[in-house]
Amino acid sequence: MDANTFVAELIRDNEELLARLAPAATLANEVGGDLAPAKLLRVALKNEIEASEIAAMWLPSAGSVALKLALARQAGDEAKHYTHIEQRLRELGDNLAGYDPVAAGYSPIFEYLKGLQTDVERVAAEVLSDRHVLAELEAIVAGGSVSSAPSGAHAVERD
Ligand SMILES: [Fe+2]
Repeated sequence: MDANTFVAELIRDNEELLARLAPAATLANEVGGDLAPAKLLRVALKNEIEASEIAAMWLPSAGSVALKLALARQAGDEAKHYTHIEQRLRELGDNLAGYDPVAAGYSPIFEYLKGLQTDVERVAAEVLSDRHVLAELEAIVAGGSVSSAPSGAHAVERD
């Protein structure tokens, strides 16, 4: 099996597993049952700050300059996403004064990702969170380079 086939099968298997989840039920549990947009956007704020922190944590130990640069871009992109969501919450009338999205602690996935030690483990974990970043990181691990195209394109940026 070549690398491309492996990645394609991994993505397909992950999609099948994730399709079994009930997203509304999962989110309802995370926000205490209230699926109001402002509650969901606060969950998104936490996700964005955690993603930014993970990319920044992995940066110093990345195995190549290209990977360091990709992680630096990702950390910045996630911070930008945070700012966009914060702006939308303010438009919805949510007062974020003093709000700290990680005051109650980091998520289990953050703790898991924080513990990954190798570039390969970290890139594999990205499969679950962001395919655009995955493609960029895969190219780097394979010895290639990336364009200056922005990474981490999320729905927030596509508005
Ligand atoms: Fe993001």
